[in-house]
Amino acid sequence: MRAVRLLVTAGPTREYIDPVRYLSNDSSGQMGVCIAEAARGRGMRVTLVHGPLAVAQPAGVRAVEVVSAAEMLAACEELWPRHDALVMAAAVADYAPARRAKCKRKKYAGELVLRLRPTPDILARLAAARRADQVVVGFALEDRAARARAARKLESKKLDAIVLNTLAAIGAERSAIEILIRDGGWRVLPRATKKRQAEEVVRLVELLRGERRAPSKDRSG
Ligand code: CTP
Repeated sequence: MRAVRLLVTAGPTREYIDPVRYLSNDSSGQMGVCIAEAARGRGMRVTLVHGPLAVAQPAGVRAVEVVSAAEMLAACEELWPRHDALVMAAAVADYAPARRAKCKRKKYAGELVLRLRPTPDILARLAAARRADQVVVGFALEDRAARARAARKLESKKLDAIVLNTLAAIGAERSAIEILIRDGGWRVLPRATKKRQAEEVVRLVELLRGERRAPSKDRSG
């Protein structure tokens, strides 16, 4: 059987205000990198599309470096048809400046108001464009009504599974995650390292992918 081709995203995106300033977030990219490494360890062919990383790029995976959400969308849309599964671990900025100044903005007295526009929802776009055999796993970071909100995201973005993180996970060595699987309920992974969490996510991808392939295998054989 040929290797599963996995598309993973990692890290933050940067949305530039002018040539030297940007909006971003604290994501290090570690989760996505751990998932890429775990998947490679399981014999998958991995493409990692990532924003600026604070951790080392993993060896043995194809890495595509991007900066903004728009660039991440373009790279992922190009790559998605040639992959069997997507794990969207990137912390995509939700808003970008409506206009990027060509020259460095000068400082003036008084308030500065920035006009922001929502970035494209990459996960929702790729899920909407998928073939029936492609598996899509997303992430959710929630601080209140976490399970209910994650469940809503799974539905609205049409995912196969969603990995729920709480704010306690940020910067922590170990944290607990919960995974909601479509038609499969919640799975709880007690306090574990990102490496362990990544292994769990990759195993889930294998499982979901196996379920997708089963009907066509039955028909052909
Ligand atoms: N995501 C994405 N494109 C965006 C924003 C988010 O693909 N522009 C993906 C993330 O990579 C993650 C999932 O959507 O897999 C959920 O991200 P999250 O920030 O928790 O949720 P949002 O949909 O952005 O909603 P909110 O911030 O309001 O909770």
